[in-house]
Amino acid sequence: MEPIVLVHGGAGNVRDSRVPPKVAAVKVAAIRGYEVLERGGSAVDAVEEAVRTMEDDECMNSGHGSVLNSEGKVEMDSSIMNGATMDAGCVAVVRDIAHPVSLARMVMEKTPYVMLAGEGAMGFAKEMDVEMLPPGALVTDDAQKALEIYKQTGGVFYEIGETETVGEVGTVGAVALDFNGHIAAATSTGGLNGKHPGRVGDSPIIGSGTYARDDVGAVSATGHGETISKWCLAHSIITAMQRGADPQTATETSLNQMTDKLKETAGAICISKEGKVGIGMTTKRMSWAYRKGDELVYGIDKGKQEVENVSAGSNTCSMG
Ligand code: GLY
Repeated sequence: MEPIVLVHGGAGNVRDSRVPPKVAAVKVAAIRGYEVLERGGSAVDAVEEAVRTMEDDECMNSGHGSVLNSEGKVEMDSSIMNGATMDAGCVAVVRDIAHPVSLARMVMEKTPYVMLAGEGAMGFAKEMDVEMLPPGALVTDDAQKALEIYKQTGGVFYEIGETETVGEVGTVGAVALDFNGHIAAATSTGGLNGKHPGRVGDSPIIGSGTYARDDVGAVSATGHGETISKWCLAHSIITAMQRGADPQTATETSLNQMTDKLKETAGAICISKEGKVGIGMTTKRMSWAYRKGDELVYGIDKGKQEVENVSAGSNTCSMG
């Protein structure tokens, strides 16, 4: 069994100008996560590091670069799950911290709870000596522009079709299988541009945005949070795998059934306990990358992927 780190940088109608930085960001995140495994880290360590890397990248809708709520503020959601123990930690509506995924991990490892939200989560962050950034430190020019456009137009999100998305689509997530055969998943987001203050999406909900169990696999989802939550997308992919589907079929089937039924879109990444991958979207685009051994595989347009040997050149081919 070969270890793997698979990440996504969000599903949606990613605008063309954001394609190169998003692809670059997911490649770096997959590599950084894998390096953690090579240094002897666990799957939990690897998904945390991969997600932290993307939380620092302002072309992603998480951490620095998160979209803004209707009051112009960043409110973030995140979760992490350890497939070995099925322990999970989640935070919702947190602000002014660089790495919500690490706070979620603290909830998992240092409290008897699965989720802390709002002021309680912020109080917990202070108890844990998490660095508090000055208000507004996570707000980017791009996010401010996106909120202005949202307010002028009413916003267009996750539309099926060719409509250019207003605002960032870039929830981030990672799944990993480590050298000891353990599995983990994590997800982090700024949610929806222009959202009502206090709105919570799928990303911090175990079974919707994130799920991991060593005896089946792991999933991180991205896309329209209300729809993913109603469908319990991550758990539905895990259930399909338990019933014998391979990860790619489980991911595509669950996503297609969800979009057929609820008329909204999403994407998901998945690994099985053997380290086989599932990468699916009912959106136009989803940036993703994985590192397995010397191979770095990545893509953003549906049906297309590129393969790079970490020490050699690259070539493009079609996803089967
Ligand atoms: N999937 C991210 C959100 O809707 O909040």
